[in-house]
Amino acid sequence: MAEASFAFFLLFLLPIGLLAVLFFLVRPRPVKIPIKNRHVFITGGSSGIGLALAHRAAAEGARVSILARSLDKLEEARNAIRLATGIEVAVFSADVRDFDAVKRAVDEAGPVDVLLLNHGVFYALELEKMELSEVKFTMDVNLMGTLNLIKAALPAMKNRKDPLPASIALVSSQAGQVAFTENKRKPELTKIIASSSGSMKAEEVAQKALDGIKCGSFIVSCNFEGIALSVATAGLTPQRSFLMAFVEVVAAGILRIVALCMQWSWYGSIEKYHSQRKMERPPLRKTLSRIGGPGE
Ligand SMILES: NC(=O)c1ccc[n+]([C@@H]2O[C@H](COP(=O)([O-])OP(=O)(O)OC[C@H]3O[C@@H](n4cnc5c(N)ncnc54)[C@H](OP(=O)(O)O)[C@@H]3O)[C@@H](O)[C@H]2O)c1
Repeated sequence: MAEASFAFFLLFLLPIGLLAVLFFLVRPRPVKIPIKNRHVFITGGSSGIGLALAHRAAAEGARVSILARSLDKLEEARNAIRLATGIEVAVFSADVRDFDAVKRAVDEAGPVDVLLLNHGVFYALELEKMELSEVKFTMDVNLMGTLNLIKAALPAMKNRKDPLPASIALVSSQAGQVAFTENKRKPELTKIIASSSGSMKAEEVAQKALDGIKCGSFIVSCNFEGIALSVATAGLTPQRSFLMAFVEVVAAGILRIVALCMQWSWYGSIEKYHSQRKMERPPLRKTLSRIGGPGE
C-alpha cells in the first residue's frame, strides 16, 4: 500500500505539482511578435540564411530592409525577392564594422520593429593555423558589427509609437550541428565530429528562425540536436513556456548523461584520428637518418 502511494506521488503528484509551480514561476511571460506590416531589418540579407529570411519575411507581409557590403549582391537579392513575392525590399550597403555607415543606414531605413542580426564570417581553420589578423577580423565583424547595429538601432526602436513588442534576434552557429555548407573547407577533425549531424537548407533555417522570433523565444533551435543542446545548457536562460521549463528541469540530469556519451564518442574520434596520423607519419629514426641527424 505504502509502495503504491509512493509510486502515485512520484508519477502523478510530483509532476503535476512541478508543472503548477513552473506555471506561476516562469518569466518573462509568453509574447507574440507579429511581423506583418512591420519593419524587419536583416543584416547579411543578400545571401544564404539572411536572403532566405528576407524572402520569408517579405512573403509574410513585412516591410523588409536588407544590409550587406556588396551593392551588386544586394540588388540581385532585391530582384530575386521581387520576382518571387512581388514585394520591393529596401537595400543598404554598409560594412557592419563601420559604426557611422551602419548608423546612416539604420536612420535612413526608419525605426525597426524586428532587428535580425544575421551577418557573420567564419574561417574554417584551427586557431593555430589562423593569423591573428583573421581572428580580429572575425571578432570585428561578428561581435563588434553586432554591437554597432544594436547601438545604432536601439534608441529609435525604444521610441517607436507602435505599442506591439519589438525584437532583436542574433543568428549564431551550433557549428557542426546545423551546418549546411560544403564540408571540404572544414578542418578534418571538425568534419569527423560534425558528421553525425544532419544538414539543413537555408530556407528551412529561415522558416524556423522566423517562427521562433514571432513567438518571442529566447533561443530558437533549428533541429533536434539544437533543441537538446538548448535544454542541456538552459542554465539562466529566460524561458517563456512553463512546459519547456518542465522539460528542462526533468531532462537536465538525463541530458548530462547524453552529453557525456557524446563527449566519449568525440574524444574516441579524436584519439582515433591522432593514432591514424601517427601511423601514417614515418618513424622518427628514419626521419632523422634522412636529414643526417644523430643516432644513425
Ligand atoms: N552556413 C552555415 O552552415 C551556418 C551554420 C550555422 C550558423 N550560421 C550563421 O548564419 C549566418 C549567415 O550564414 P550564411 O552561411 O547564410 O552566410 P553567407 O551566405 O556567407 O552570407 C553572409 C552575409 O553577410 C554579409 N556580410 C559579411 N560580412 C559583412 C560585413 N562586414 N558587413 C556587412 N555585411 C556583411 C554578406 O554580404 P557581403 O559579403 O556583400 O557583405 C552576406 O550577405 C552567419 O551569422 C553564420 O555564422 C551559418
